[in-house]
Order: sequence, then C-alpha cells, then structure tokens
Amino acid sequence: MYKFTDKYMQNPDNLKYLRDNMMGPNAMRISEEMASYLNIDKDMRVLDLGCGCGLSTMLLVQKYGAVVTAADLWISPTDNYERFKSIGIDDKAFPVHADATKGLPFAHGYFDILFSVDAYHYFGRTSDMLPSLIPFVKTGGYIAISVPGWKTEMKKCVPPELKPYFIDAGDDDAETFQTLDWWKNLWKQSDGIEIVDFREMECCGQAWDEWLESPNPYAVKDRGMMEAEQGKYFNLIQMTARVL
Ligand SMILES: C[S@@+](CC[C@H](N)C(=O)[O-])C[C@H]1O[C@@H](n2cnc3c(N)ncnc32)[C@H](O)[C@@H]1O
Repeated sequence: MYKFTDKYMQNPDNLKYLRDNMMGPNAMRISEEMASYLNIDKDMRVLDLGCGCGLSTMLLVQKYGAVVTAADLWISPTDNYERFKSIGIDDKAFPVHADATKGLPFAHGYFDILFSVDAYHYFGRTSDMLPSLIPFVKTGGYIAISVPGWKTEMKKCVPPELKPYFIDAGDDDAETFQTLDWWKNLWKQSDGIEIVDFREMECCGQAWDEWLESPNPYAVKDRGMMEAEQGKYFNLIQMTARVL
C-alpha cells in the first residue's frame, strides 16, 4: 500500500526533504493509504485542503498525475510555489492561500476530489463546515479526509500521562481530537453526501514514528508525548463520502 512512500524515503535527499517539510504524522504515507481507496487519475482535479508544505500534494501529483490545488492557511503560497518548483511539480500543483472558515475561492462543481490530511480537525468540527465544502465537489466526486483523534471516547478528560503535553502545555489539540464515532455522527447530519467509509488507518503508528524523526521543533517536543502515549490513545481516522 505504501510503495511510493517507501521507495521515496530510501533516497537520503528525499528523506531530508520529507522530514524538513513535515508538519505532523507523515503526510505522504497517510495520503498514499487514503488515496489507495480512491480511483485517482491524471485527468482529475483535486483540492488538497490544509496542504501545509505540500507533501500530500506531491504524492497526488507524482504518483497519480492529478492536477492539485494546494490550499492552506498558515503556509504561504509563495513558499509552496518555490517548493513545488524545486521538486518539479509546479505544472500540476497550484498553491493558494485559503481559510476554510471564511469561504473558499473556488467554482462550485470544480473538483473531482476534496482531499485533506491532518488539517480538518482544526476547522471541520462544526455542523456547517461539511455542507459548506460539498458544493465545490462534482456530483459523484469524493471527499476524503484524514484526521488524528482518540481511539476511544475521552469524555473531555485527557489521560493523566498526556496532560503535561496537552493541558499543562496549553496545547489546543486535545480540543480538536475526537473519536471515529464522533466524526461519523457529525457527518451523518449532512445532506448531499453518502458516507462511503469510516476507518482507522493502518499507518497510524508508523506515520507518527516518522514524524518524530523530523527536525521540526514540534516533532522534537512530541517525542516525550509519544513516549508517554505508548500507542494506546492516538488514532488516525479516514473518512470518505461520495457527493450526491
Ligand atoms: C498540522 S498541519 C498539517 C499540514 C499538512 N496537511 C501535513 O499533514 O503536513 C495543519 C494544517 O491545517 C491548515 N489549516 C488550519 N486551519 C485551516 C483553515 N481554516 N483553512 C485552511 N487550512 C487550515 C494549516 O494551515 C496547516 O497547514
């Protein structure tokens, strides 16, 4: 399932690029698993929402030849354009600044797939977010989203061993983390889609381990948290819906 990612990471220059541009669990590996459930091809237009530094965009362009609009809030499109030029995907990957909470600057019915890795939990927890995104996807197209979350319901109580990293550190991730059932219940409220699949991703442990090898200061900080977590609490949740 991870042929592209495994091969890519065997090259030391690639591995450095990947680690330097990670913003969380390995977005390339997560994207490859999620994409394996979709029939992506070179004629498709994909919106990569919350693309960060574009690791998911790179996978979608280099593995499938898709045309990708790489939209993000925190990362400048100019920086992403420089990145895309440096890896030779600037003819198929178009960087855009976008805030999903403020309305997106795209045509309705434009995208075959709305794809998002490790970003939707920041802005997608309200009942009106999914309905606001559906119009940008063609009828019969897909919305495919992966978010980190809890394996089981925490009833607003972060496990004691993780408190130093969430509560005491003032980290708002505890608020953004939810369970698979929580997300499914939210999506069930939305008209205009048919839920195709909700699943726990197989790459969860590996994608987190690969993030911890990144020099990103947040990754360095997360090493203690993952040591305390011991694979007990964190999940990666994949949600796929078809637009009606
Ligand atoms: C943890 S980073 C992950 C980035 C990238 N997807 C990855 O996995 O490497 C979360 C991303 O969500 C994006 N984001 C957060 N809120 C957003 C919003 N309201 N609209 C668009 N993107 C948003 C941020 O800009 C950030 O790049």
